[in-house]
Formats: sequence, C-alpha cells, structure tokens
Amino acid sequence: MPLLLPSSLYGLARPFLFGFDPEHAHELTLDALARTQNTPLACAYAAPRVEDPVRLAGLTFPNRVGLAAGLDKNARCIDAFAAMGFGFVEVGTVTPKAQPGNPKPRMFRLPQRDALINRLGFNNEGLEAFVANVQRARFRQRGGAAPMLLGLNIGKNAATPIERAVDDYLVALDGVYPHADYVTVNISSPNTANLRSLQSDEALDALLGAVADKRETLAARHGKRVPLFVKIAPDLDERQVAVIAATLTRHGMDGVIATNTTLARDAVEGLPHAQEAGGLSGAPVREASNRVIAQLRTALGPAFPIIGVGGILSAADAEAKRTAGADVVQIYTGLIYRGPALVARAARALQQQARQSGT
Ligand SMILES: Cc1cc2nc3c(=O)[nH]c(=O)nc-3n(C[C@H](O)[C@H](O)[C@H](O)COP(=O)(O)O)c2cc1C
Repeated sequence: MPLLLPSSLYGLARPFLFGFDPEHAHELTLDALARTQNTPLACAYAAPRVEDPVRLAGLTFPNRVGLAAGLDKNARCIDAFAAMGFGFVEVGTVTPKAQPGNPKPRMFRLPQRDALINRLGFNNEGLEAFVANVQRARFRQRGGAAPMLLGLNIGKNAATPIERAVDDYLVALDGVYPHADYVTVNISSPNTANLRSLQSDEALDALLGAVADKRETLAARHGKRVPLFVKIAPDLDERQVAVIAATLTRHGMDGVIATNTTLARDAVEGLPHAQEAGGLSGAPVREASNRVIAQLRTALGPAFPIIGVGGILSAADAEAKRTAGADVVQIYTGLIYRGPALVARAARALQQQARQSGT
C-alpha cells in the first residue's frame, strides 16, 4: 500500500511541525525536502503520479493538480514536489532583486478553519539564485510519460515604485523565460503595496501590452513561445472580472490563475489571528475563488484556460473547482493541512469527473 505511506507519515509529521511557529515549520520542511529530493529518503513523501494527461494552452499537463506559487519561492525543491505526483509545479514569486520581505512574524495558522494568513511580502533570493536553482532541478530528465510542467511566477520588488512596475516584470520575464513551461504574471499579492492596483483597467492594459511585446522578442530569441498566465485576486466584483477577462484576451494571454489570497475576514471572524494583516488562504477563500472562476468562465467562453486555486482541502473541493469552470487546479494551504496524499486523491477525483462528463 505505497500510497498510504506518505499520508500516514504526514499524520505523524504534522503535530511536530505545527508545534513550531508557521514560518519556522515551513523552513524546516523546505530544508528537509531540498536535502532529501533525488535520494532514497524521498520515499517518505513520494507517490506514483496519477496519469491523466490534458492539453491546455498548448501544453500537456500530466494530470490536473498543481502546486500553487509561494510555497517554494526560491525554486529549491522542484524535484521533491515532482516526486509527490503533481502534474505541474509553480515556483516563485521571484522578483528581479533579492529582498527580505516584511518583518516577522508574518505567517499565522487558523487551524479551526484550515486556513493561513500571510504577509510575507515576496521574500526571496532574487532572479539569479532562482534561475540557478531551476537549472539544477532534474525532473525533466526522468523518463516515462509526459514530464511534469514547471511554471515560473514573477513579481515586482517592494522598492520599485508602482509606476515602474512594468520594468521589473520585463526583467523577470527575460530571466525566467528560457527555463519555464509557462510564466505567471502575479498582480494579486495583497502584501506588496499597490500591487493589486495593476489589476485595474489602464494599469493592466499597459502591463500586459508590454509583457506581450516582450514575449514576441523572447520567442524569436529562444525559438519557443512560452504561454503567459495572469494570476488575479478573489476580491473583485463581476465588472472588474469582466474587464480583466477582456484585457487578457486582447493581449493574447494564454490563461488565468484564479485566485490568490483574500483580504476578506468574514469567514474567520472572532478566531485567533483573524485580524492579522495579510492574505487569507485555505477553506475560507474557496467560495470567493469559485465565484471568480465562474465569472471568468462566463466572460471568457469555454476554451480559455483557467487554473483554479483557493481552498482545496479535499477531492470534492477540487471537483467543485472544475464544476465552477477551472480546467486544472492548484493547491497550497491544503498541502499544509492534509499532506501530500491530497495530491493523488484530488488528481484521481478529477480524472474520474472528466471521464464521467466526457471532457
Ligand atoms: C504563505 C503563502 C505564501 C504565498 N506566496 C505567494 C506568492 O509568492 N505568489 C503567488 O502568486 N501566490 C502566493 N500565495 C497564494 C497561493 O499561491 C494561492 O493562490 C492561495 O493561497 C490560495 O490557495 P490555497 O487556499 O490552496 O492556499 C501564497 C500563499 C500562502 C499561504
């Protein structure tokens, strides 16, 4: 029963990890994954990948479940996540220059609601270190079926004024482009001042215009056209979602990732840490995320790729994302609360759901 091993081991590891401050537990886990990936010790979390290939944005996703951005900001553990059976892994957000992020503490657990609040603020080691780590990863050398896909998620430095944000995205796009299966333009973190203003009509138009032009240059230089996805917030009304949808298609973007964390707190009112500043993730963001996905699907029609993320804690939650309109899904907080067994469970459920609906 090899599939039970990771879940039972995580059952043992979780109380130990939850005994530490959340960010410390996170660092311990990433250190352990970085040290054990590509060694026999990886059997502690490795699981056979569910093979359920799906074509999307010109890519073949080996299955419908991915790792969401922000868990492996510096791209140190790509091979460990590949071993867990993800069909795709998104690392970053990376900014052009290294930066420390916000003062600690800046990450909080709300275990009563399977939720986290974070205000990390794009703490990362910068583009150069990030690309070096990506180049060290070996997952593409593994034989067999379709290789896992790698998404590289880019953002702006906190010190760059918002009027110059485009410059940062172009530098980051230039750096990650040759190494990515897809690139995500992240304009929806709540923890970098004014970042979300890039989602508004004119700012988004200017940013995506510049990014699309740059992609043409890079496609010619590298001889490959890398799909561009844009990651948006759940805290948008229907009109804003419609404007974003129109802007994405106007600039030839290849997909949308919905959603990032929420600023809303109604679902966690009264709980310890509920009033901490930052983005709320996990179960409480699920409904808003599904609403935005459904609005995007209506606005974009049936063919435009949507990656659904936000509050997947179970196979049923993953199915609900597909029902709302997502083609594939990503998980972050669910991995913290449920462990790596959730990956195969969700991927198998989505495989069955697709078979039953004939898609
Ligand atoms: C601690 C933490 C850090 C995150 N950092 C990033 C990030 O750097 N870039 C990004 O695009 N999303 C980031 N996210 C958002 C997640 O990728 C995801 O969109 C969100 O948490 C909702 O999914 P979930 O409920 O499965 O966690 C972060 C989330 C958490 C909890």
